[in-house]
Amino acid sequence: MAKVGVFFGTDTGNTRRIAKDIATALGAAKPVNIRNATVEDMLAYDTLILGTPTYGEGQLPGLSTGNATTSWEEFLPTLAGQDFSGKKVAIYGLGNQKSYPTEFVDAMIYLYEQFKQCGATMIGAWDTEGYNFQVSKAVVDNRFVGLALDQENQKDLTPARLETWLKMLTEAWG
Ligand SMILES: Cc1cc2nc3c(=O)[nH]c(=O)nc-3n(C[C@H](O)[C@H](O)[C@H](O)COP(=O)(O)O)c2cc1C
Repeated sequence: MAKVGVFFGTDTGNTRRIAKDIATALGAAKPVNIRNATVEDMLAYDTLILGTPTYGEGQLPGLSTGNATTSWEEFLPTLAGQDFSGKKVAIYGLGNQKSYPTEFVDAMIYLYEQFKQCGATMIGAWDTEGYNFQVSKAVVDNRFVGLALDQENQKDLTPARLETWLKMLTEAWG
């Protein structure tokens, strides 16, 4: 099986809890908070699963959105010019579709675009069916660019969504 690295940003812990569930399900190494990670740490893996919540107005978590620490906002610029070709990258995003129906899980798009630009093969797009929101930047060609999770309004659906998504991913990376 591919060597999988799980990296996440978080402010209130939801995205970390999901990262732990993913690592447990896959038998992967302990997930790393992106505030403690370097690009080299990521490049050690063939396959990456990256988690982010959305904060502010459809933004990545970071100091400008009131996050307690640095996060994806500060990490993402360090990827400029890096080569992720040959790597497979899947994204999951946490958000709140009821409170933020026009910015639901927007932050996923920023990770998606940056890693794509670095040459990564992006996997793990997910159907928008079953969610109740109006607009999301993270929807490309009618699908989320990664797995959307809402722990505030659809917590009960998370375990089954995760299981299906991880099965899809493991089939994709063989
Ligand atoms: C101030 C604030 C702004 C938020 N903005 C958004 C948003 O724009 N879009 C969205 O989908 N969710 C938004 N959320 C919801 C969070 O993404 C959600 O609560 C998530 O589970 C938090 O993850 P964490 O516990 O890993 O930090 C916001 C939450 C807060 C408190």
